[in-house]
Amino acid sequence: METKLEKGYTLRRATKEDISQIININIQTLPEHYPYIFYLDHLENYNKAFYVAEADGQIVGYIMPRIEWGLSLLRSFPKFVRKGHVVSIAVLEPFRKRGIGKSLMEKSMNSMKEDFKAEEVYLEVRISNEPAINLYKKLGFSIIKTLSYYYADGEDAYVMAKRL
Ligand code: COA
Repeated sequence: METKLEKGYTLRRATKEDISQIININIQTLPEHYPYIFYLDHLENYNKAFYVAEADGQIVGYIMPRIEWGLSLLRSFPKFVRKGHVVSIAVLEPFRKRGIGKSLMEKSMNSMKEDFKAEEVYLEVRISNEPAINLYKKLGFSIIKTLSYYYADGEDAYVMAKRL
């Protein structure tokens, strides 16, 4: 299923053939990298929520999710819930600030809720990553806690979450 948007890009579900381009984008944009099999596993298991953005005939962004079962991050009492987890999201630098990141998040979160019956969505983000933190806040996420030394270089992460 393709979604045409006004601003010159298209969102669609990722396919196996997209993985090499997705890996390329990941390497260019983020310090956290994963082996091919990691992408394949997520694609096969959570394909309905795994989206890419295309512009100018190439893939320019992706969102790689997974679905987990665990304690709610948002309730005041202990409750096990199905949670969407944004494992990785990135947009190539020349294509940023056009709404692509926001659209990728919205599509994936919609699928987490509708296709996977997830009740909440969460992610980890570097505490210095202002563009990403702003994007998540704009989408209604709140900072739940800080994970000290979460990243390999020692930076802390915020865990941010939102009810679906
Ligand atoms: N500075 C401040 N806020 C920013 C921003 C920036 N450079 N870029 C995005 N935002 C916030 C704004 O609130 C923006 O809304 P606005 O345009 O109305 O001001 C909102 O996010 C949506 O922006 P959008 O255009 O949809 O985001 P994007 O397509 O540029 O993608 C990222 C955002 C985070 C995915 C992109 O910057 C990226 O790929 N960064 C490198 C990889 C990364 O850090 N991934 C997240 C890991 S947790």
